[in-house]
Parts: sequence; C-alpha cells; structure tokens
Amino acid sequence: MENGAARPAPAVIVAIDGPSGTGKSSTSKAVAAKLGLSYLDTGAQYRAITWWMVTNGIDITDPTAIAAVAGKPEIISGTDPSAPAITVDGTDVARPIRTQEVTSKVSAVSAVPEVRTRITELQRSIAAAAELGIVVEGRDIGTTVLPDADLKIFLTASPEARASRRSGELKGADVNSTREALLKRDAADSSRKTSPLAKADDAVEVDTSDLTLQQVIECVVTLVEEKRAAK
Ligand code: DC
Repeated sequence: MENGAARPAPAVIVAIDGPSGTGKSSTSKAVAAKLGLSYLDTGAQYRAITWWMVTNGIDITDPTAIAAVAGKPEIISGTDPSAPAITVDGTDVARPIRTQEVTSKVSAVSAVPEVRTRITELQRSIAAAAELGIVVEGRDIGTTVLPDADLKIFLTASPEARASRRSGELKGADVNSTREALLKRDAADSSRKTSPLAKADDAVEVDTSDLTLQQVIECVVTLVEEKRAAK
C-alpha cells in the first residue's frame, strides 16, 4: 500500500433478486462495473449444473438421480462484470447454458435441495473472497444465500414488459410464447420448497416496467452509495 493512498471504500455486498426479464443481469453488471465491485450471476451457475446434467444423460425428471451427482461437476464463475465467464470441468459453457433446452430444464434441476446446497456454498465462498464487495444477482440471494447483505434489491416488472424485453433479447421470439414460458418458470421458481424466488422483508422493491435501464442503474447506484457512506 502506498503512503498517503486514499482510504478504500468499504466492501459492500449487494443482493439483487427478482424474476427473469426485470433487467436484473444488465443492472447488476452495470452497477458492479460502475462501482468497481465484483459480479456474480447465480442463474448462470444453476444453468451450468443443468447443462452438465443434460450432457451427462442424467434423467432430470428424477430428483434422486440429480441429487446423487450434484457434487460432481466443478463449476468456476468469473466475477469481472465486463467479462462474465463460467466453466464446467474446464469447458467454457457461457453460450451452451443459454440454449432453450437448458432454459426449459433449469427450474427442475435447481429445485433439488442437494443442488441448492452445493451452489449456495459456492456463492457464499465467492462473495466472501470479493475484497471490494460484490453484486450478486439471483432469486434467493437476499433471503437465503446472503441474508446479511448490506443492500437488498428486488426488481419486478409487469409480465408484458418482461416478455417484450426477453423476446427482444432472443432476437424477435414470439412475445406471447415468451410470456407463457416466463410465467411458467416463475411459477416453478416461486413455488419450490427450498429457497424459492422471494422478496426479503428488508429488500427495496423497484418496479422497472416504466423505467429505462439507465434509470434503474442510477437508482441502484444511488442506493449502494448511500449504504457505503453509512458504513
Ligand atoms: O437468472 P436466470 O434466468 O439465468 O436463472 C435461471 C434459473 O436458475 C431460474 O429459472 C431459477 C434458477 N435460479 C435459482 O433457482 N436461484 C438463483 N439464485 C438463481 C437462479
């Protein structure tokens, strides 16, 4: 450390939860980049373990079969918000985890308690190692993974706004079928027994339906700066 160096900003842990299509990933990455924090996409980890199950022929309708091998794949997540990376047993899976096949199976795999225990441990160790702090996005971060986070945000948006954003990302996929698929995945993620998608009691809820991405980012950055200043 150089003499006279400015005192570093205190590490801050930010949990951003909410259903898909609310702008969680874009917001989380931008906030982390702007504030010099690490970034963790926990949905990518659940997608990665799902990809491994599919690739290894595991019957994803059988929770016992999934539980038996939940500890096998080695999942490594990068935490640079400008270049999010994820590997499974050394293979770069950033693209294959976004396929329709993985998307349609991830809720079933992520509902298995042994999968959640494994991935939750991984998430906690990554957050603990982030010296300057981290933005962690997911579904159960504020409630289960990091209940002591400095700031918890719960992003929401109308199903219409979410479906139209998602179909834009999927390069013009049909809005109605995207809406149905989103609602089906939300219902599964919200109704599972182990750490469902839920707003923590102390989370700040932000409805993004009528906000631009820039407005959402500014809102969250302001909230993080307020928390940092109060530490
Ligand atoms: O954010 P995403 O759409 O990439 O997440 C994919 C799935 O992973 C989502 O449908 C539910 C699951 N997930 C979860 O159960 N818990 C998390 N913290 C993050 C994602």
